[in-house]
Amino acid sequence: MSYIGTRLEAALSLLKCENNTLFADIGSDHAFLAIEALKRGIASQAIAADINEQPLLKGRENAALHGVKIDFYLSDGFKAIDSFRITSAAVCGMGGELIARIVGESKACKSALLVLQPMSAQEELRRFLWDSGYEIFTERFVIDAGKPYTVMQVKFTGVRTEYGYIDLYLGRERAQSPEFSAYCKRQLIAAEKRRLGIIARGDETSLIDSLIEYCQTQTTSF
Ligand SMILES: C[S@@+](CC[C@H](N)C(=O)[O-])C[C@H]1O[C@@H](n2cnc3c(N)ncnc32)[C@H](O)[C@@H]1O
Repeated sequence: MSYIGTRLEAALSLLKCENNTLFADIGSDHAFLAIEALKRGIASQAIAADINEQPLLKGRENAALHGVKIDFYLSDGFKAIDSFRITSAAVCGMGGELIARIVGESKACKSALLVLQPMSAQEELRRFLWDSGYEIFTERFVIDAGKPYTVMQVKFTGVRTEYGYIDLYLGRERAQSPEFSAYCKRQLIAAEKRRLGIIARGDETSLIDSLIEYCQTQTTSF
């Protein structure tokens, strides 16, 4: 079995683009994405960036073990590498708000194919992307070690996307599947908790009720 789980496999599958000369793995940690991008010929060169020294050491060791050449950078998001001609980048395994900040502060993100994989606050990331002229071309739902994840393929178009409340929490691409159903189950639990807070504040519940109702229809279909 591959050392790459279904979450990172999905990220790799969405990374493919024409003339992918320089892939950047941001928040690289083990650097598995950069290593596999090179081994599979998805990109011809790869760089890896992490805000912490320890993950960079681990990534360097893994790159050596796999016999691939990756340049490693100590960097907050894209800051140390933003002037490079990056053709594709992955920002995976971090919170949605942090990913939004990293993308928002980068110039390179305006021209690269992006694969984003938020671990939390997915609605904040979708809101940022749609408000800022980034289009989510594909959103793939996967289950890895029993947990549901979303992986997004994103490109800057400069055109803002209109969205509704349910789109923020579940994305706009909501094809039925066991993976999407598991994602909805998780969103349903979170929404039910948030609803209690809304009621306690005496606020209107119609939006969250619509999300809960939608999630309920999806969780019973598998
Ligand atoms: C949970 S790991 C994810 C590793 C890998 N991308 C994945 O999805 O499996 C998160 C990594 O992001 C790094 N990180 C956190 N904030 C960062 C930032 N602002 N810029 C770059 N790296 C960051 C952490 O040091 C850590 O190595």
